[in-house]
Amino acid sequence: MKILVIGQGGREHALVWKLAQSPKVKTIFCAPGNGGIAQMATCVSISEEDFSGLAQFVKDEGIDLTVVGPENPLLNGIVNFFESRGLAIYGPSQQAALIEGSKEFAKDLMKKYGIPTAEYESFNNYELALSYVREKGAPIVVKADGLAAGKGVVVAHSLQEAEEAIISMMKDGIFGDAGSKVVIEEYLEGEEMTLLSFVDGEIVRPMVPSQDHKPVFDGDKGPNTGGMGAYSPVPHIDESLIEEIVENIVKPTAKAMVLENRPFRGILYTGLMMTKNGPKVIEYNARFGDPETQVILPRLESDLLDIIIAHLQGELASVEIKWKEDAAVCVIMASGGYPGKYGKGKVIDGLNEVSPDILIFHAGTKLDLGKLVTSGGRVLGVTALGSSIQGAKEKVYEEICKVTFEGVHYRKDIANKAFKYQ
Ligand code: AMP
Ligand code: GLY
Repeated sequence: MKILVIGQGGREHALVWKLAQSPKVKTIFCAPGNGGIAQMATCVSISEEDFSGLAQFVKDEGIDLTVVGPENPLLNGIVNFFESRGLAIYGPSQQAALIEGSKEFAKDLMKKYGIPTAEYESFNNYELALSYVREKGAPIVVKADGLAAGKGVVVAHSLQEAEEAIISMMKDGIFGDAGSKVVIEEYLEGEEMTLLSFVDGEIVRPMVPSQDHKPVFDGDKGPNTGGMGAYSPVPHIDESLIEEIVENIVKPTAKAMVLENRPFRGILYTGLMMTKNGPKVIEYNARFGDPETQVILPRLESDLLDIIIAHLQGELASVEIKWKEDAAVCVIMASGGYPGKYGKGKVIDGLNEVSPDILIFHAGTKLDLGKLVTSGGRVLGVTALGSSIQGAKEKVYEEICKVTFEGVHYRKDIANKAFKYQ
């Protein structure tokens, strides 16, 4: 088969890497791809937003299946666009992707169907938002309603921080339209966990759990990022709790989407907080998470293409989905200054020195006259598998220091949370 993967991050590199292992795959294309993906697939420079260009390419090349990585094209209706032209594509419709595209929609859905989440209010008017946070006090969480590349959430530990977040989103418009409406939420305390699931209408097949690290610095300090590292499994969250989450949260969410006439078909990302009153939903995404995918796919024993084909043929309930016992730890190497302003074009050295059993998924890299250089905030994801989280963590940190570029920074404490409860 000929496959097209849409996107250009570490998640898409992991998807291309995993799909390429399927004996059914003959050729993989990636649009637009990046410097690392170019080493295992044919990258085509068509933007992920150019639906006509992508569909034309699929027709011209005789591509059998398109797999979508990022949220923007999903929210803008790429699945509807392809399906209306009879082209096979994997991902939720625009209507279903709203579960990620609007925090207000997601919160209202949870309220209506009794799915546990933080208390909240939505605001269009910044003065009302300000008086609400003054009444509630800190800590409190301010979220831009729309998409803001994982950076539209401010966990405010003081009233001043909350006020500044409201003013910058609603008055100064730092996220454009995405911040003209905000959701203000009760602060939840506890451990976070990500549960990705294959979802087809009411059918839910959960993957193995993982844990992301959103804040930029060690000890969860500093502003939130798209994610600085991940690990899987999550040993302190036991199987019975995962089952409870699937039964009481993920399945009711899938059913709610069916009842709302927005049946979901694709990957549902449920971000959870394990509070002392039980697990609560922090957010949904309508796609694979990044960096979570960089630890989940290396643990998937089964052929991902077989699962996707079965899913698209209505056989998700019965397809075999097998996982490896191995643990995986991924550390993200970021550009100096990220998640704020950062430079690009820094030469990346040392990749050839890294042990071959380490997986390096590229995010913000490109080939510039044959040299690999940085081109984004999150640059590389370095993943190791091991028989334990400790082993995988040691391996990652032993190898990651061999890779260098000017200004690089990464967290030194990824996966430490796994040892906190031992
Ligand atoms: P989100 O984009 O909604 O996942 O939020 C980004 C991050 O902010 C989450 O991964 C949490 O670390 C944090 N966060 C979001 N909502 C809350 C909440 N209600 N209480 C505490 N932390 C939160
Ligand atoms: N790791 C968070 C996300 O993919 O949105």
